Amino acid sequence: MPFKADKIWFDGEMVNWADAKVHILSHALHYGTSSFEGLRCYKNKNGSSVMRLKDHVKRLFDSCKIYRIEIPYSREEVENAILDTLRVNKLEEAYIRPFVFRGFGELGINPFKCPVHTSVAAWNWGKYLGPDALENGVSVRVSSWSRPAPNTFPSLAKVGANYMNSQLIKMEALQDGFDEGIALDAYGYVSEGSGENIFMIKNGVIYTPPTSSSILAGITRHSIFVIARNLKIRVEQHLIPREALYIADEVFFTGTAVEITPVVKIDNIPISNGKRGTITAKLQDEFFGIIQGKTPDPQQWLTYL
Ligand SMILES: Cc1ncc(COP(=O)(O)O)c(C=O)c1O
Repeated sequence: MPFKADKIWFDGEMVNWADAKVHILSHALHYGTSSFEGLRCYKNKNGSSVMRLKDHVKRLFDSCKIYRIEIPYSREEVENAILDTLRVNKLEEAYIRPFVFRGFGELGINPFKCPVHTSVAAWNWGKYLGPDALENGVSVRVSSWSRPAPNTFPSLAKVGANYMNSQLIKMEALQDGFDEGIALDAYGYVSEGSGENIFMIKNGVIYTPPTSSSILAGITRHSIFVIARNLKIRVEQHLIPREALYIADEVFFTGTAVEITPVVKIDNIPISNGKRGTITAKLQDEFFGIIQGKTPDPQQWLTYL
């Protein structure tokens, strides 16, 4: 599917896709002064809905707060901009990209003189790690690159500059023939993938790194906490040494893009029998059950258009 739709919401107006342009001296282009979100809109028998809309918009505002970027709209206005962008483009299923960035004012490092712009784009986007990944899983390597140390680039902020680190992790993995990379934190503990959180299962307990391991606090990660609690499966946020992944019973990634994707091989070592595990499959069933409108949505994660 092409990365294209008719309109992009840009600073309060719906503009044509081709006209959503910025000046080349925009602060964001030079220094990474931007924050963004990634959401998905899914279609089910009740209509089209956005998954965890309010949580994503809240995280966008939190990311900007960390970098002293004042978004010139309320949270509700950004939520409505997202819904309007889907409606105007007649998108029933989509990936949605709200984006806040500093434009052109002055080109020094001081960002305060540069205006804050806000946009929302949406388009059709299939399965991030390929069409079979949800069932057959992916093969990954542990990256030679680490995630940023605490007190360098704040990992809880989802900002453009952080994704230069993610790109190093992703490019290395792809060029070495893997689907994705897993980065360790500055202390050598497991952190996360280039654009996804990681979980492992051992003896029926689900483990995932804590927010202090330089991760983004993923919204899908939180969905797993809630779903696992409902299934009465214990989840622990725990420092994870690299080798614990090799001997785990199951490993999976979570994220808006990858949803819940099994990891079946790490550094060419098969995880258990090298196939999607039973608890991973159960978590996927619950997660997609809610999205597909087959099971109740007590947390009201879905906002219908
Ligand atoms: C670095 C990173 N970690 C984790 C995630 C997963 O977060 P979420 O589940 O909110 O999409 C993402 C995706 O946004 C990400 O870019």
